[in-house]
Amino acid sequence: MNSCLAGKHIVLGISGGIAAYKSVYLLRLFIKAGAEVQVVITPNGKEFITPVTLSSLSGKPVISEFFTANTGEWHSHVDIGQWADLMVISPATASTIAKMANGVADNMLITTYLSAKEHVMVAPAMDLDMWAHPATQRNIETLRADGVSIIEPASGELASHLCGKGRMEEPEGILKAVEEYFLTAADKAECDCAPGSVYRHFESAEKKLAGKKILITAGPTYEAIDPVRFIGNYSSGKMGFALAREAAAMGADVVVVAGPVDASLVPDNVRVVNVVSARQMLAAAETEFEDCDIAIFAAAVADYAPVEVADMKIKREKTEEMELRLVRNPDIAATLSSRKEGRVTVGFALESDHGLENALRKLENKNLDWVVLNSLTDKGACFNTDTNKVTVAGRDGSLRAFPLKSKDEVARDILRLL
Ligand code: C5P
Repeated sequence: MNSCLAGKHIVLGISGGIAAYKSVYLLRLFIKAGAEVQVVITPNGKEFITPVTLSSLSGKPVISEFFTANTGEWHSHVDIGQWADLMVISPATASTIAKMANGVADNMLITTYLSAKEHVMVAPAMDLDMWAHPATQRNIETLRADGVSIIEPASGELASHLCGKGRMEEPEGILKAVEEYFLTAADKAECDCAPGSVYRHFESAEKKLAGKKILITAGPTYEAIDPVRFIGNYSSGKMGFALAREAAAMGADVVVVAGPVDASLVPDNVRVVNVVSARQMLAAAETEFEDCDIAIFAAAVADYAPVEVADMKIKREKTEEMELRLVRNPDIAATLSSRKEGRVTVGFALESDHGLENALRKLENKNLDWVVLNSLTDKGACFNTDTNKVTVAGRDGSLRAFPLKSKDEVARDILRLL
């Protein structure tokens, strides 16, 4: 059965409370569900549980200090914060909650929290009087106002042997809260499965594109100059095929019109029409557009092609310069979007400057419903990489910026927005 945690990046923050031992079980549950987990522990947390246990289970070194003592290696809380799809702090002591509420960045866990781009959940654990204290309750309210989810502590016997509210939620309960978080509110609204059956709930959400035909253009185009030369670009087609793979996994009937790309990229359950030039790509896309519901234009189409293609290999001239006359290629996205009649169309904008401005202009000029902006200045967000960092703008005025992620995850984010 597919878990909604599969492939998710979770930062598990552990602070110094007796309940830290429960985080070992929680970590195991996350790993078993297919998540990748980075543990960040406070210096006090290490008094309760050893990094060796945690790193053995997570398969990653546990991070606690800003630097590794013997090598001087700096641990970037910014990178960890950006990597995470979710941060879960369990247990969260009164002290950690107070530091989070006030931005007291004196340990790795709090700096990571302050750098986290995605959602944060805390599972408080403390004695009943500490939990009930107005200071703690004020801090909890501040965290809620900051958008943090609080996994309410339960009532029961506490480490002090007193009885009352403050006992950290059990690992299974935290796992359930995390699963529910990953099932988006929209997906939940459409779920008709039995209450509490979060896994089945997720599967139905993932098949949301069943019955839809999706056309995707991908890869570069090559514009022939002569029988052995062409004008091309470095596009690998990886983003287009990641979209194809994810759309197929969501139940869509997917056809990719692809320029020259590595054949190993092509997933089994996706139909591919291979083309070479922009004009061939337009012709194939026009045919597939007829009965499609969604068209995603992810190809890096050459803007110009040689006016004439030489029949024979062009010989090297004695002159220092040669001229090549070019003619503008058709804009496939704009051409098809001008006749979209109820179809949803999505384009990409790869920009080196004035990114958002240019992307919004493309949204308008090409009559798209969504435009996915990626910037050439962002590290890891370019041709031929396995990662991408995108901002998605919609015709409805919505704007959503995502951190650097794998292209598969970016594809999932885009398709879920659609
Ligand atoms: O205008 P620009 O090339 O930046 O636009 C990028 C978007 O338009 C991408 O979605 C790309 O696939 C699409 N496009 C196209 N045909 C072209 C040029 C771009 O479909 N000739």
